[in-house]
Amino acid sequence: MSPSEELESSIAAAFDLSARGHDRFAVDRFLAMGSVLVQRAGLREGEHVLEVGCGRGSTLLAALDVVGENGSVMGVDDRPGMVQLAGARVRARHVNGSDVRLDEADKPNFQPGSFDVVLANLMIFQLADPAAALRHYATLLRPAGRIAFSTVAAPDPAFASALVAIGRFAPKLSAQRGPFRSEAAIREFLAEHGYERVAITEDVQETRFRDPEHWLEWVWANGGRELLDRVPAKSLPLARAAAFDEIEAARTPDGDLVLSTAVRFTVAAPKTPARV
Ligand SMILES: C[S@@+](CC[C@H](N)C(=O)[O-])C[C@H]1O[C@@H](n2cnc3c(N)ncnc32)[C@H](O)[C@@H]1O
Repeated sequence: MSPSEELESSIAAAFDLSARGHDRFAVDRFLAMGSVLVQRAGLREGEHVLEVGCGRGSTLLAALDVVGENGSVMGVDDRPGMVQLAGARVRARHVNGSDVRLDEADKPNFQPGSFDVVLANLMIFQLADPAAALRHYATLLRPAGRIAFSTVAAPDPAFASALVAIGRFAPKLSAQRGPFRSEAAIREFLAEHGYERVAITEDVQETRFRDPEHWLEWVWANGGRELLDRVPAKSLPLARAAAFDEIEAARTPDGDLVLSTAVRFTVAAPKTPARV
C-alpha cells in the first residue's frame, strides 16, 4: 500500500467509510446534475464528447443518450476504480470510439481537435491549475467546439456549516475556490484564458440523506476527500461529531435530511480555435 493509500484507508476507517460506499453514493446526484449539464451544453446527435473526471460515468451515459451511435463519449478519471466502473458501463453500450481511460483531468492525452465538447461535472474546481486545464481543453476542441462545466453556486447552509466544522480540524483549508466563486469571476477567468460566448445558468439540486452517516459517505466520495485528508488522525472523531451536529440541525420536522445545493452550469467556446 502506498503512503497515500494508507492515509486514505486510515481516514476511511476512522470515519467508518468503505470503498464500497465510495462507489455507491454518488449515483443519483451526479446523474441529475450531469443530465442538466448535457442539456445546457447543447449536445447534438453525432458529436464527440470528452468528460474529464468522469467518476462512475453517469454523465457520460447521459451524453451518450444524446450523441447516439454516430457520436462517441470518452471519459478520463485518475482513480482506477472509477475508470473500471465507468468503462464497463460505457462499453456495455457498444458505441464505437466510446471508452474510459485512466488519465489526468488537467491534461488528458488526446490528439488536438478530437472533440466537439469537453464536459466537467462538479470537478473543475478540484484541479490544481484550472487555467492551464482550460487552455489545454481548447486545443482538444474542433471548430465550433465548446466546453461545459458545473460548479457549486451556493451550498446548502447546513452542508456548508458541517464542512466548516470539519475544517476547524483541518488547518490551511481554503473554503472558496477562487476562479469559480461567482458568475462574474467565472466570466473573467474564461475571458483571461481564451474563451468567449459564455452562458451561465443555475439550478437548485436536492440531495436526500438517510442520516449523517449517509451524508458523510457522500462527502467522502465526492470532493470532500480532500478536506477529510487534511484532518489529523487524532482529531477525526471530534471532526466527525462536530459535522454531525450541524447536519442533524438541518432535519425538517418530518425527520427528513434534504440538502439543497445551487449549481451553476457554464458553457463557453474558445476565442480563436487553438488547433494545430
Ligand atoms: C465529483 S466527482 C464527479 C463525477 C462525474 N463527473 C459525474 O458526473 O458522474 C469527481 C471525479 O473527478 C475525479 N478527479 C478529481 N481530480 C482529478 C484529476 N486531477 N484527474 C482525473 N480525475 C480527477 C475523481 O476521481 C472523481 O471521480
